[in-house]
Amino acid sequence: MKRRVLAPSASLFGVLLLHTGTDVVLAQEAKHATLTIRAGEPGPQISRHIYGHFAEHLGRCIYDGLWVGPKSSIPNTRGIRSDVIEALRKIKIPNLRWPGGCFADQYHWRDGVGAAEQRPRRVNIHWGGVVEDNSFGTHEFLDFGGLIGADPYVAANVGSGSPQEMADWIEYMTFGGDSDLAQLRQSNGHPQPWKVPFLGIGNENWGCGGRMTPEYYSDLYRRFSVYARDWSGNRLQRIAAGPGGTELHWLDVLGERVKEGVQGISMHYYTLGNTWQDKLPATGFPESDWYAVLRDALKIGGLLADAEKIMDKHDPTGRVGLYVDEWGTWYKAEPGTNPAFLYQQNTIRDAVVAGATFNIFHRHAKRVKMANIAQLVNVLQALILTEGDKMLLTPTYHVFDMYQVHHDATFLPVDVQTDNSTLGGESLPAVSASASRDAQGRVHVSLVNLDPKAAAAVEARIVIEGQKFTSVSGRILTAPAMDTHNTFDAPNRVQPAAFTGATLQGSSLKAQLPPRSVVVLTLAGT
Ligand code: AHR
Repeated sequence: MKRRVLAPSASLFGVLLLHTGTDVVLAQEAKHATLTIRAGEPGPQISRHIYGHFAEHLGRCIYDGLWVGPKSSIPNTRGIRSDVIEALRKIKIPNLRWPGGCFADQYHWRDGVGAAEQRPRRVNIHWGGVVEDNSFGTHEFLDFGGLIGADPYVAANVGSGSPQEMADWIEYMTFGGDSDLAQLRQSNGHPQPWKVPFLGIGNENWGCGGRMTPEYYSDLYRRFSVYARDWSGNRLQRIAAGPGGTELHWLDVLGERVKEGVQGISMHYYTLGNTWQDKLPATGFPESDWYAVLRDALKIGGLLADAEKIMDKHDPTGRVGLYVDEWGTWYKAEPGTNPAFLYQQNTIRDAVVAGATFNIFHRHAKRVKMANIAQLVNVLQALILTEGDKMLLTPTYHVFDMYQVHHDATFLPVDVQTDNSTLGGESLPAVSASASRDAQGRVHVSLVNLDPKAAAAVEARIVIEGQKFTSVSGRILTAPAMDTHNTFDAPNRVQPAAFTGATLQGSSLKAQLPPRSVVVLTLAGT
């Protein structure tokens, strides 16, 4: 595509001059996309649980990131960072998965209850061989869930645990009667049982969770799930550990062999843009990396479609949900940090990955009932980074904030015709879009311009009878460079702003999207 240099106020055909906060962006020739929002053909509900989260005993996610202990000089509520609680309450996180990840299959829950000073110190075998003092255990996790209003999703140990241990944990947490385990919970300070709606039975049991075959895990799942009981009005959604990456054979075997005692099957998908052996940097990357990462991120759409076909074969009524309970970008660890801690920066590119991924999840809302980004704080595609008493919100956090409007909303199909964004042999759709209708009848349209340099002119036709929209408003997240990110010294470089680049005339909506941007529009009316 030919590039033109513009005088600050010039406006040439096909070229957009954009003001993004204080920066003026001289954009390449604009890309175009035409959308048809079929608002009269509502689809399934978009479960708010696809906006779920994951916190593992890994690096500085739990310790430093969430838990500083009640005696810390960092402001905290019963040991949990108050700044983190406040930030998470704001985005209404629907659920939180814990304690792993790989850590789940080495975790023995009894280590993490009772007087903190008497809890055993164990080696965290997967994540750097650091000593885990178990000061954050079941009570602390469930307290944290209560403080932020998130449903707990507990992952039980299959790899090195037993059905008895898992059954005891469930009883300890949820049984309201007078058993020894319920009494133990009471003596540890929590008289009332908790509600624990989600139970994972193992994690990545093809790998760090025991290197099993799908046949062996399926048999173990059948056995374990018998002992995962509902007590005292608690209703467990039991989730089998599903495939990782593109290894869908695991899903096929599991779907064939496990028909009872299962409400969900998980799937993990990480965006690398390269290989596991040679990961890409999180910042300071060339344009080719932008394309490689986005291309990889978008692959999840095809993967979900393939997974759905397999699930439809084994579960034609759609009873069992697909839970993408780990997803996100995985780069080289930040230079100077422990590589086993998986600490990475988070740029506008990660925000674009998140926005485009949610648009894909929305399209699969019929089967995809939960998704959990990895991870909440200080690990991989984190929403929050901390350093001592400092905390910052990443561009990814802001996408979760902006997309809140889609929680439990009704999916509206969007037909997208878009130019491609290309570099060398790489080609991406320039625009990704999705739409939903909320309980008040407002329609929310989320648009992502995946192009790192060119603006996108979007024209949308809203096909609906009996409803007129009279106003459009919106928010935008964009940044001056491909790797712009927030730092502890400049924590607000990337943050949402009001979006004024959209116009509405009758059923025709137009929007000008700056390069590398995520926009959410709200259409309201009569
Ligand atoms: O999120 C980091 C790790 O990635 C998890 O522990 C594991 O389940 C996955 O391989």
